[in-house]
Amino acid sequence: MTTVDLIGSSPKFRAVLTDVNRIAPVDSAVLIQGETGTGKEVIARAIHEASPRRNNRFVTLNCAAIPSALLESELFGHERGAFTGAWAQTKGRFQMADGGTLFLDEIGDLPLELQPKLLRALQEQEFERLGSGQTVRVNVRVVAATNQDLGQLVSKKLFRADLFYRLNVIPICLPPLRERIQDILPLTEFFVAKFAASLNKPIDLIPDEVVAVLQAHDWPGNIRELQNFIERAVLFSPGSVLRLPLDRKQTVKQNSESASQTLADADREHILETLKQSGWMIGGQDGAANRLGLPRTTLLYKMRKLGIEARRSPRARPVRQLADEPCTAAASC
Ligand SMILES: Nc1ncnc2c1ncn2[C@@H]1O[C@H](COP(=O)(O)OP(=O)(O)OP(=O)(O)O)[C@@H](O)[C@H]1O
Ligand SMILES: [Mg+2]
Repeated sequence: MTTVDLIGSSPKFRAVLTDVNRIAPVDSAVLIQGETGTGKEVIARAIHEASPRRNNRFVTLNCAAIPSALLESELFGHERGAFTGAWAQTKGRFQMADGGTLFLDEIGDLPLELQPKLLRALQEQEFERLGSGQTVRVNVRVVAATNQDLGQLVSKKLFRADLFYRLNVIPICLPPLRERIQDILPLTEFFVAKFAASLNKPIDLIPDEVVAVLQAHDWPGNIRELQNFIERAVLFSPGSVLRLPLDRKQTVKQNSESASQTLADADREHILETLKQSGWMIGGQDGAANRLGLPRTTLLYKMRKLGIEARRSPRARPVRQLADEPCTAAASC
């Protein structure tokens, strides 16, 4: 049993859960690939909690969130005086995860120069802290995740092949939500119950036409996007029947094509409103992506799809530079 919420009954999701239970007892490295918001971290936690390591720590490190100069120290720790500002000896995440699981998120962003050190730590279960000659031995299971196509990074020489094979001992591919439509209803029911409780807003009924609209949408931000949308829907439902946060002039149509169109209109309105509130700034703490709970690349993808043109914000990086960046939500499993 796991304390992680794992909702879904589609054959593809059930196959993932079968894999989780099969691989939990062993110590081999796992590589989880899937688009943004498909539940990679949730599955990594589920593997840990179903494993004999469950009573030890599940430690995470997001390789994209830490400046590359600090990553080595974050992974392996450092001695006092190892670099300017290193006031005390510090343990790295590998040592913190001793006996447990280390979750390396966004592994595709691990700088090339650090990759041989990670490979050694994976193979030998030993490393040295920065500024120390003393070898530290650990017992850590590594689960890595990425929404990039690591195989392609290898062929472009942006990721080491030996490390890729070492991490990819057990591959898990999380399908996008649009490929497991069967999961949309149970996920919606789960999120409605969750937000109804946390927002103190009882919802007794999810009408069939609302479910039809949700099932017709393609959810580029996957489960995270559905979750955020349901939170908004619960918040703005006038009574105890779930209503989608659409423009008041619009009505939900049962035909799936027009239903999808209606949802796209609602998305468009909401994104435009958020962009206005953030002064058309997309990235950063106050940017629209953060306010919407979406990765910046996903928001740019949605804006392009919905025909929303980025505008120059006085606070933002040049708009063309952002709009030209490729969408990373394209991992092929
Ligand atoms: N099967 C599931 N059941 C319930 N909630 C889920 C499920 N999968 C994902 N979620 C929820 O969806 C959100 C996104 O999940 P998670 O952070 O694991 O995705 P991710 O693939 O790691 O995304 P990213 O690539 O953007 O980091 C989280 O709030 C998580 O709790
Ligand atoms: Mg994640």
